[in-house]
Amino acid sequence: MRMGFRFATALLFAAVVLSGCGKSGDRGSSYTEADGERLANKKCATCHDLHMPAKTSENEVAPPMFAVAVHLKDWMKSDSPAMQRAKFIDFVQDYVINPSPQKSYCDPASLKSYGLMPSQKGKVNREELAAIAGWVYDHFDQKAMLEIIRRENYLKSLPPYKRVLETKDCKVCHISGADRVAPSFEKIAQRYGIEGLENIKRSIREGSRGRWKGYSAPMRAYGKDMSEAQIEAIAKWIAAGGREKGR
Ligand code: HEC
Ligand code: HEC
Repeated sequence: MRMGFRFATALLFAAVVLSGCGKSGDRGSSYTEADGERLANKKCATCHDLHMPAKTSENEVAPPMFAVAVHLKDWMKSDSPAMQRAKFIDFVQDYVINPSPQKSYCDPASLKSYGLMPSQKGKVNREELAAIAGWVYDHFDQKAMLEIIRRENYLKSLPPYKRVLETKDCKVCHISGADRVAPSFEKIAQRYGIEGLENIKRSIREGSRGRWKGYSAPMRAYGKDMSEAQIEAIAKWIAAGGREKGR
């Protein structure tokens, strides 16, 4: 009897989950993953750190979202990821509007030190919460975090100029041996050499136009999104020849 009931509930649950997932992944919500991220930044990031790996601090007002997600997933054991995701979304939709110590999965000591989450009623609606929770569930994932850490460690292992090349878009236009969109770094090196270092730095910082024949598009200024140390590193490398090893 009891088994029969549980089986029936499981089927019903699966049907609800599957029919909802077919549409958008957020059980009938018209929001996308990108909306989930945007909304989380707008509505939750004032209290919950959204970095991955998490950035913790001594005086944080709430647990980082990564900790929340991993913790909740641990508690919500489920037969399938789809069911767990649905449970997760249900929980968040309810908790954010009606938080209580009884519902909280937070351990008592942490709950006491953070204090209960203030209800966000009126600040976020159910549909927005479904999008946010879906994004949180998918994004804050152990495997994805390992991948991010691997990438960070890889970048740390590189010399600074190479890190710039890996994380900025320079090579989209400056292609060695193909200077259709922009002069190659080799050509720039030939023109300026190490005596031209200051000019190279200035051009990266402030942008450049009209200095090279045949390129009608100007280069934008990078001063706002690169540190002086990054500009120095890439400029020195360009001035010294602008050639990547192995070419
Ligand atoms: C004003 C600060 C604040 C805002 C804004 C806030 N939270 Fe929280 N949240 C907290 C605190 C503090 C806790 C830890 C105490 C608790 O579990 O109630 C918490 C805990 C949680 C938990 C874990 C509950 C548990 O049982 O472990 C979830 C899930 C959560 N928040 C989701 C959200 C989402 C989603 C948003 C954005 C819509 C949000 N929070 C916005 C302060 C906030
Ligand atoms: C959208 C294409 C594009 C991207 C991306 C780009 N550049 Fe350029 N770059 C150009 C073009 C076009 C020129 C030639 C502009 C001119 O005629 O003055 C140029 C010129 C330069 C020059 C020579 C400027 C001078 O004073 O003669 C340097 C140095 C340079 N780029 C470095 C970089 C670095 C470093 C990056 C990445 C942080 C980068 N560029 C990203 C298109 C690009």
